[in-house]
Amino acid sequence: MKDILIVANWKQNIVAIANYFAKLKLKKSNVVICPDYTNLSNVRKFCKNNCFLGAQNVSKFLFGANTGEVSAEMLKKHKVSYCIVGHSERRINFKETNKSIAKKIENLILCNIKPILCVGEKNVLSFNNAYKIVKKQLQSVSKEFLKDVVVAYEPIWAIGTKQIPESNMVEAMCKQIKSDFVVSAVLYGGSVDENNFNKFLNLESVNGLLIGGASLNVEKMNKILEVILWEQQLH
Ligand code: PGA
Repeated sequence: MKDILIVANWKQNIVAIANYFAKLKLKKSNVVICPDYTNLSNVRKFCKNNCFLGAQNVSKFLFGANTGEVSAEMLKKHKVSYCIVGHSERRINFKETNKSIAKKIENLILCNIKPILCVGEKNVLSFNNAYKIVKKQLQSVSKEFLKDVVVAYEPIWAIGTKQIPESNMVEAMCKQIKSDFVVSAVLYGGSVDENNFNKFLNLESVNGLLIGGASLNVEKMNKILEVILWEQQLH
């Protein structure tokens, strides 16, 4: 049985944290919860040793006069274990480039935080054209750092749209990433919910999921985690 990583990206949403954790059924699976910066300590209190704390972003600067920025070292002080970088919402809304994302990855790894690098094409494309984009995004990170990166393949057109790609496209993409690059793991993300998650987890080259909208709902998260826990007990 492969190890599965489930990453919850809460984005800029307000979550009733105490209530969420009172209901969340965490056991054996590897779960990473990524709240906004202001709720990192709060989530850490509830996570205890049962889940990992993740951030949604980090500064490309290690320190300095950069008003409003949060460095990798600051995240480390908050016991952050994972950090999402290069999410399409940041690439598009905040004009993040492959170069600045590569710098963030470097800083995170120097601080012992595992980056979760989001890659993916904007529009529905053929496999070859989509992979050209993904390949370029991955090539901008040096091999030395990429080997410690969790890659999340997220077709942008699938994020928050309830549209999902064909399973064979996801498998082909994740397999190709693993054959061309040495990375820590490859996740799928984009409109994953309690009804479709198994379709992706069953794919050979997929090591887990990055879940946005559905992760805000603890009942939906439990439905996903219950199945994973149940399968793990069988093996
Ligand atoms: P979604 O978001 O699950 O709501 O599509 C995924 C993401 O943005 O990482």
